[in-house]
Amino acid sequence: MEHYGEQTASGFLHVAPESKEPYAPDVLAKLAEDAAAIVARYPVKRSALLPMLHLVQSVDGYIAGRGVTFCADALGLSEAEVSGVATFYTQYKRHPNGDYTVGVCTNTLCAIMGGDQIWDTVSEHLDLGHDETTTDGKITLERVECNAACDFAPVVMVNWEFYDNQTPESTVALVDDLRSGAPVKPTRGPNRQCTFKEMSRVLAGFPDGLADEGVGAGPASLIGLEVAHEHDWRAPRPQSAGELMAPEHETVTLKDERTIKTEVAAESLAQARVADTKAGE
Ligand code: FES
Repeated sequence: MEHYGEQTASGFLHVAPESKEPYAPDVLAKLAEDAAAIVARYPVKRSALLPMLHLVQSVDGYIAGRGVTFCADALGLSEAEVSGVATFYTQYKRHPNGDYTVGVCTNTLCAIMGGDQIWDTVSEHLDLGHDETTTDGKITLERVECNAACDFAPVVMVNWEFYDNQTPESTVALVDDLRSGAPVKPTRGPNRQCTFKEMSRVLAGFPDGLADEGVGAGPASLIGLEVAHEHDWRAPRPQSAGELMAPEHETVTLKDERTIKTEVAAESLAQARVADTKAGE
């Protein structure tokens, strides 16, 4: 495929002629078998479109024209309906994608913590802008929105696996390792980095067996839980519909905490008002 780097708005709309070439018979047979397994999970065929798009992406590395046709035929949809969905979600690529999608989070918290510097450095290092791919087909670079990993900011994702607490230097080393084929391990999650096609197959609903590997919740995510354990804090349990009540000793603990905070806040406010009054005199 020769469309790495074709990133303009018109590039997204471009369908390369070869993307319409029919699948080889053995590939088509396997696709049909997998599609049947996906469709069987849903009461209505068309509901299977999202995993089906991941399935064809796991074969082509992007949503090729023939993938759109395959999904439309399998689900009784028009190609326009399939394309409308494929162009709506950013996880579906309309041009050949690299083996590794490197997403630098530049949303608010990561940006403040250094995400913007990471983006600038890696973008310059790879000579890529948003959604562009290196000429060797290894890396597609993206700006991404919050990954729900703000406690490890700044965060970089590779095919949606987490690389926590990154720096410009560590991210440059990461992309260099990915390009050279050196072993790379996410901070949390599986013990090896999967490729874009492998990840797409998992998203289609075919587990790779790696879901329980490695660290799940990292230390920063568990601090609140540790504090709660230390103080024996528990969430109130509902005792009847519409009524949230905790056992008496827990209610007292929570009430005491809140009372203390309220008193401290009220005292601070009163002091601020006094200071304000004196300043105005
Ligand atoms: S802002 Fe980057 S993970 Fe939330």
